[in-house]
Amino acid sequence: MDTGTADYYRRYAQSLTDSSESSRSAMLPHIERALSPGASVLDVGAGSGRDVAAMLRGGFDAFGVEPSADMLATALHFHPALEGRLEQAMLPGLGRPFSERLPGGFDAVVCSAVLMHLEPAEIPQALEAMVEQLRAVMSDDVEATSPALLISLPFLDPCRLIAQRDEDGRRFHNHDADQLRDHLATFGLSLERSIDSDAAFVTAGTLWKTIVFRRRP
Ligand SMILES: C[S@@+](CC[C@H](N)C(=O)[O-])C[C@H]1O[C@@H](n2cnc3c(N)ncnc32)[C@H](O)[C@@H]1O
Repeated sequence: MDTGTADYYRRYAQSLTDSSESSRSAMLPHIERALSPGASVLDVGAGSGRDVAAMLRGGFDAFGVEPSADMLATALHFHPALEGRLEQAMLPGLGRPFSERLPGGFDAVVCSAVLMHLEPAEIPQALEAMVEQLRAVMSDDVEATSPALLISLPFLDPCRLIAQRDEDGRRFHNHDADQLRDHLATFGLSLERSIDSDAAFVTAGTLWKTIVFRRRP
C-alpha cells in the first residue's frame, strides 16, 4: 500500500470507536444471496472486520486478510470472535492465507471497497491472486453453488480526485468493471450479476457496483 493510503488507514483505525462505524454490513445481503449456508469465505481487505464478523454471525465460515496492522488490531478489539480468523496480507499478491485450515481453498472470496487503492497495472495480478484462493469446481456443483468472487467497486466523481487521490489522500482509481470482467474471464470466471447502488452518488458523489463472478462449472 502506498504511504498516503497507509497513513489514512492508520489514523482511521485509531479514530474508530464502538459507535463510529455502522454495524450494518452492506455486503452481507449479497453474500447470503450468492452462497449456500455455511460456505467458507475469505474477505480481502477486511478493514475493521465488520463484514467478517457479520458473516460469522450469519453462519458462514468467514476469514479475512488485511494489510494494515492498525486495522487488524482494531478489528480484533471490536470483534474478539475473529481471533485466529484474520491475517496480514496485501494485494496484488496474497500467498495462501489459512491454507492449513482450508487446504482446498474457499467457496468464495469477497473484496469490498479495496481495488480502488490499487494501480490499474496491479489489477490483473490482484484478480488472479483472489481467484487462486477459490476451491476447484466439484462434480456436484451447479452454477449457483460453484465458487464465487464478489467485488464491490466504488466510482468517485472524477472532479473530486486530485492526482488520483481522494480528499483523504488515499490513492483512488476508478477501475472499469468491464475490464475486470474480461480479466476474470481469462481466469475461468463468468459474470453472474452486477448491482448498482447510486443512492450514495446523489449524497456523496460515489457510485457503488457490487459484482458477482462464478468459476465456470
Ligand atoms: C475502504 S476500506 C474497506 C474495508 C472493508 N472491506 C469494508 O468494505 O468495509 C479499504 C481497506 O482496504 C485495505 N487495503 C488497502 N490496500 C489494500 C491492498 N493492496 N490489499 C488489500 N487490502 C488493502 C485498507 O487497509 C482498508 O482496510
